[in-house]
Amino acid sequence: MKIAIIGTGYVGVVTAAVFAKLGHQVWGLDIDEKKIAQLQQGQVPFFEPGLDDLVQEGLKRKKLQFGSSYPKIVPQAEVILICVGTPPKDDGETDLTFVLEAARSLAPYLQAGTVVVVKSTVPPNTHQQVRKTIASLASRPFFVAVCPEFLVEGKAIKDTLKPSRVVIGADNPEVIEKLLVLHQGIGGKRIVCSPSSAQLLKYAANVFLGLKISFAYVMAELCERYGADIDEVVAGLGADPRIGEGHLRPGVGMGGSCLPKDIKSFDRWAGAEVTQGLFRAVEAINERQIERALQKVGDLIGPCQGKTIALLGLAFKANTDDLREAPSRKLIRQLLEQGAKLRAYDPQAMEGLKKDFPEVRYCTGPYETVEGADLVVLVTEWNEFKNLDWKRVKRLMKEANIVDGRNLWKREMLEEMGFKYEGFGR
Ligand code: UDX
Repeated sequence: MKIAIIGTGYVGVVTAAVFAKLGHQVWGLDIDEKKIAQLQQGQVPFFEPGLDDLVQEGLKRKKLQFGSSYPKIVPQAEVILICVGTPPKDDGETDLTFVLEAARSLAPYLQAGTVVVVKSTVPPNTHQQVRKTIASLASRPFFVAVCPEFLVEGKAIKDTLKPSRVVIGADNPEVIEKLLVLHQGIGGKRIVCSPSSAQLLKYAANVFLGLKISFAYVMAELCERYGADIDEVVAGLGADPRIGEGHLRPGVGMGGSCLPKDIKSFDRWAGAEVTQGLFRAVEAINERQIERALQKVGDLIGPCQGKTIALLGLAFKANTDDLREAPSRKLIRQLLEQGAKLRAYDPQAMEGLKKDFPEVRYCTGPYETVEGADLVVLVTEWNEFKNLDWKRVKRLMKEANIVDGRNLWKREMLEEMGFKYEGFGR
């Protein structure tokens, strides 16, 4: 099938590369010409394991092309997927500017019967705005559908090829059939539903994950207060198949481009009367984790003024260079305000912070980072931090203090070695 993908951000590039791999003829379209020039050379402007290779393979097989011209690309496509960003406005509401701009830009060049699919995460019934926008400018008949994505950064290719479900939100049988054919070769259950349900269920999934994580954060704090252990509690909770163990890991906070934004925007969209503060509480609980991390720092080393603190991991989670809403930013800002000297290392995400925080000493690896430190804080659970040579770490540090912000390390072992250890809920 011939498809155009508008927006070459995270979702756009992954989707384009995967559909090209499945044999479709794919154009990635973006108005950012610099990004397009990079992609044409097979360079992905962000880090996602395996994506560079998949893009290069698509380019080589001529199944994947990138460009910035709506008039050149749109008339060739049978299906157009809108994958542009939906950032939050100042009040937390979703900004639909890019989605509607894409709709306006593609409308004049549509061939008859093209299916325009909204893939960006948008509030329910946005598809009607998209339809109205296109209709005001298009001269041929077209269809609008909604196929939300559920990919998780760091394992986006696997998630796109083998998702838990493919949601097809459409109300026309021909369109449904076309989208089912488009997704042949992709795993997962098919959920065929109305466009409104598709948009709502996508939001609901992200918001539910946020609820679940924040619940784990609350439980972790209660464990600390009442002498329980979060790992044991989660094992017992998660054994109930209705609950499940996933997304119940406590830590310094949830970040990324989706959960924090979607929770805010869902709250503003749904309205206070319906939600009764449920999602505001999730936001507050998430904010609280930074305060809790700082409290743990204070408990171990007292006032931060003049102390050297080593931060391991900066990305909002492992296996990505994404720093959007990353807890590391909040932590760095507050520790600097308190007068700490910071050393930091992340395998992928340092470049993005250098401009905002030039006063941080960026290091080349975990051992250089902990040199002379009074305390190390683990912020992101990268695999390479899992099995550190702890004797070496202890030798290098000035004081053996650890705040394990992702419960990655073994408390008992570290305490036996003479470290003072603070985790979350342990
Ligand atoms: C999320 C959804 O999981 C995905 O389905 C959706 O399509 C996009 O948003 P992503 O943003 O990649 O994916 O990250 P996710 O793995 O969900 O983690 C979000 C944040 O929560 C991270 O900062 C992570 O560290 C944190 N988290 C996650 C926890 O603190 N505890 C957990 O148990 C899980």
